[in-house]
Amino acid sequence: MLTTRGRMPRIPVLNARLQGFGTSIFSEMTALANKHRAVNLGQGFPNFDPQGTIGREILRQASQAILHEGRNQYCRSFGALELTKAVQNRFQRFQAIDYDHESEITVYCGATEAIYCTFSALLEMGDEVVVFEPHYDSYRPSILAAGGRDRVVTLRPDGQKRFTFDPDELRRAFTPRTKAIILNSPHNPTGTVFNREELQAIADLCVEHDCFAVSDEVYDHILFDGKPHISIASLPGMRDRTITISSAGKTFSVTGWKVGWTLASSRITNALRTSHQFITFCNSTPFQYATAFALNADDSFFKELVSDYQTKRNKLHQGLTEAGFDAFFPEGTYFIQADVSDLKRRLNKRTDMDVCRWLTEHVGVCAIPSSAFYSQEDESRFIRFAFCKTDDVLDEAIHRLRTRM
Ligand SMILES: Cc1ncc(COP(=O)(O)O)c(C=O)c1O
Repeated sequence: MLTTRGRMPRIPVLNARLQGFGTSIFSEMTALANKHRAVNLGQGFPNFDPQGTIGREILRQASQAILHEGRNQYCRSFGALELTKAVQNRFQRFQAIDYDHESEITVYCGATEAIYCTFSALLEMGDEVVVFEPHYDSYRPSILAAGGRDRVVTLRPDGQKRFTFDPDELRRAFTPRTKAIILNSPHNPTGTVFNREELQAIADLCVEHDCFAVSDEVYDHILFDGKPHISIASLPGMRDRTITISSAGKTFSVTGWKVGWTLASSRITNALRTSHQFITFCNSTPFQYATAFALNADDSFFKELVSDYQTKRNKLHQGLTEAGFDAFFPEGTYFIQADVSDLKRRLNKRTDMDVCRWLTEHVGVCAIPSSAFYSQEDESRFIRFAFCKTDDVLDEAIHRLRTRM
């Protein structure tokens, strides 16, 4: 659109709902890490392929689907039959809840699209969604783009250095306009795994206020020290008001495949599918077949994944502690948060971002400032390290932290 003088008119391009969401902190820190040749423990993706014989077979299944099985065209909008069945079976085996693969399971371009579609389907203008902070970065833009408003409840560390919520604060966040709450367990970035009591407190409020639970469970197979993963959908009264979201990226170390899914009652699923068909229509077909194979993998694959990550968690936690960090112990996910209050004082730095910049430039290790996961509170005490990296990378990071700090 040109003005009479041939210049572009000064109308804002980005709509008001998305104003203020700049470039993601992950891109910013990765660019800085590359510039200073820092070991990148910032961005949360594995620097390795799926492991072991089963891992290699998962990769082979993808190339088989492309090269030999002709799985190269659109599939059903709600997902390839093999995958929706595999999601049903896996959830049935691990959470003992049955969802019908034809009418209650939908496949998306990663959990990120599932989250976006969910809010685009559920929300009327002005509807409120309760969000815990710190939170994954796509929640707020997805809510706001759909015309909703977020009501933030802050997770804070308790005496055991475990992040949790104050039940009274949570109760106060629910209003007559509340349409849904979004929760994430195991939780990025704090590593908290909600226990049954915490989930029950959330479920009680959902039932009392007749609203939906959007449950982001992308780390549902990365839990340590024998902790069980409980899906909120398994609590009484919750099956038919929960949208459970997960994806293949974290469990199978294939974050670039972007295969995600929801499990929800057919009434909710109909709404989700209406939105999904106009956003991506369907997700990449060959990776769905490979993900179906992966979900049907032997239990040994999932046990090894946990055991490998637990070893990496312990290694990085010990390394950070020995380097002088006040590192928290995650119950799940592949992230460790460290409290850098002392370090900030010692270095005379103002924010967690300043600390992360200094670490990247002077120590050669990149982490993410946790303030990026907050929208309400001005929290600047924590930084996040990812341990989904091969041992040589973790060892080098630990060596630098010990010798250059
Ligand atoms: C909590 C959380 N939810 C969702 C996602 C996105 O998952 P996907 O890559 O399947 O879109 C991530 C990725 O980092 C995450 O940490």
